[in-house]
Amino acid sequence: MNQPRRVENLQTDKGKVPVYATGIIEQPWDGYSDDDHATWATLYARQREVLAGRASREFLEAQDAMGMTPDRIPKFSELNTVLEAATGWTLMGVEGLLPELDFFDHLANRRFPVTWWIRRPDQIDYIEEPDLFHDLFGHVPLLMNPVFGDYMAAYGRGGVKAHGIGANALQNLTRLYWYTVEFGLIRQDDGLRIYGSGIVSSKGESIHALESDAPNRIGFDLERIMRTRYRIDDFQKTYFVIDSFDQLIQATEPDFTPIYARLAELESVPAGSVLDTDTVHTRGSGVGWASDGDV
Ligand SMILES: [Fe+2]
Repeated sequence: MNQPRRVENLQTDKGKVPVYATGIIEQPWDGYSDDDHATWATLYARQREVLAGRASREFLEAQDAMGMTPDRIPKFSELNTVLEAATGWTLMGVEGLLPELDFFDHLANRRFPVTWWIRRPDQIDYIEEPDLFHDLFGHVPLLMNPVFGDYMAAYGRGGVKAHGIGANALQNLTRLYWYTVEFGLIRQDDGLRIYGSGIVSSKGESIHALESDAPNRIGFDLERIMRTRYRIDDFQKTYFVIDSFDQLIQATEPDFTPIYARLAELESVPAGSVLDTDTVHTRGSGVGWASDGDV
């Protein structure tokens, strides 16, 4: 086995540059320090408290069903027994962000890459890139949900295909991932809830996404999302709201190739814009928004 390495972004004179790792490694569980387990415990307990009444029912139920607890960092091998029996997904350890095509191929084959290392205590409130807490606490529970699990695998297949079509197609598809898997909201009978991993793994954004007056909350619309730029350095200016996970699956059934061709002719939409064609749940006040910096 390769020695596991913790791979983080590099700070350079061009800003933060992502570093990609390709190695698949066995989770070095015995190597976690007491500090690592304590960081997990702190984040887990704090986030579960924040998510009560804020996260989707499906997310909370799935997390309990997997057997994740705050007392220690879970073992991927133990979670895999439960997860694989439920939906055929398995977790595998990685050192950091994977190259896109590798990532898509794993998802298409129901393998979810999980960063093995957890943030340092001084990074507890914010870390720029995915670590174990984001990946495991944020992404993995919904893989227990059959419909969402199918959506993630379909996304992987779509990614492999988009990669072959070109950069614009890939950008369109990445925006879909961003506004659903990472930052999606869902409408339940009793109100809006969070399901996106980037939100559920962040205390600040969990509150902001549901309770702040600043962001727009707009009904899910595949092509609209694929045109929309987003923020990577701050809370989102816009969240998109699905009615059910079935809606995601149905939206990804058609071949995207003609959609990509159509979108190539259109301007992208700034992260904070509201269009006449939008179904608006909440129009944001825009308070605190930076004027530029959309990607
Ligand atoms: Fe993520």
